[in-house]
Amino acid sequence: MAEIAIFEVGPRDGLQNEEMFIDTDIKIELINRLSETGLKKIEVTSFVSPKWVPQMSDAREVMAAINRADNVTYAALTPNQTGMEAAIEAKADEVAIFAAASESFSQKNINCSIEESLHRFEPVLKIAGDRNIPVRGYVSCATHCPYEGKISPEKTAQLSSELLEMGCYEISLGDTIGKATPDDIKELLGEIFQDRSADIFALHCHDTFGRALSNITAGLEMGIRTFDSSVAGLGGCPYAKGASGNVATEAVVQLLHERGHETGIDLDKIRNVAQFISEIVRHKN
Ligand code: HMG
Ligand code: MG
Repeated sequence: MAEIAIFEVGPRDGLQNEEMFIDTDIKIELINRLSETGLKKIEVTSFVSPKWVPQMSDAREVMAAINRADNVTYAALTPNQTGMEAAIEAKADEVAIFAAASESFSQKNINCSIEESLHRFEPVLKIAGDRNIPVRGYVSCATHCPYEGKISPEKTAQLSSELLEMGCYEISLGDTIGKATPDDIKELLGEIFQDRSADIFALHCHDTFGRALSNITAGLEMGIRTFDSSVAGLGGCPYAKGASGNVATEAVVQLLHERGHETGIDLDKIRNVAQFISEIVRHKN
């Protein structure tokens, strides 16, 4: 069966939500351990305003100190030119821009309208193009917004197309608040795949209501071959009911292996990393 790609976002999406500052050394150790599990893509950090996300304020230090495995891509989030320049300096292999299909969420998250955000991404894509750095595009609130409720599939499809036309190599569709059902995922992908092929899309499921694995299964059945996940389901309180973290990498890998897919990831090793970081986060809290 087809090999499925896992995009590990724990060090960024998981840890950014932790209230207590996770020491830089721990972040580095987490990323180094993840690099030895067979994962090929790790989102390490984000070059955003430290006032907005204090947890990621050590982005430069983290990027400088990790051991880089040859076959692993180390990615970082960049909302604008300032972030992109910092990511280049830190030698990110790949960057991601992040837009939202909801105006309210765009304002709350990056302090500008959707249109303005696309404008801010232009220099990011220009710099990336000049240096041959791949740019991933996130579309948050792909199905639901915490402020506006259900988002129409047409709106998400339209924004995805704009990001692809600007030069993103892949769009990661974010169920930011974990509200989607498998039917919502099928409806969205059905709309998008009228004009675009599945291989340039990824699913980014948060597991707030415990539906992430069902949503991933729906995505798999529709042809998605890349899934984002976070070791230990980081974000919110790991392993706690109602946690608002991403779907746990070890759970996704187990599901995929049970269904006969290959991921190249060693399930025991990723479980060990999950244990390591859960204990630290639990202790901090
Ligand atoms: P702003 O305040 O509108 O920015 O924030 P500004 O351009 O007016 O600049 C204000 C200050 O920020 C200035 O500094 C800039 O230099 C600085 P000051 O003069 O006041 O000292 N600044 C920066 N500093 C560091 N890095 C930068 C940067 N840009 C400006 N890149 C901004 C706009 C986008 C910067 C802000 O809103 C921000 O940082 N937002 C980030 C929010 C964020 O990281 N959210 C989480 C990630 S998205 C996510 O989790 C969803 C996802 O997982 C998918 C899903 O689940 O749906 C991806
Ligand atoms: Mg997310």
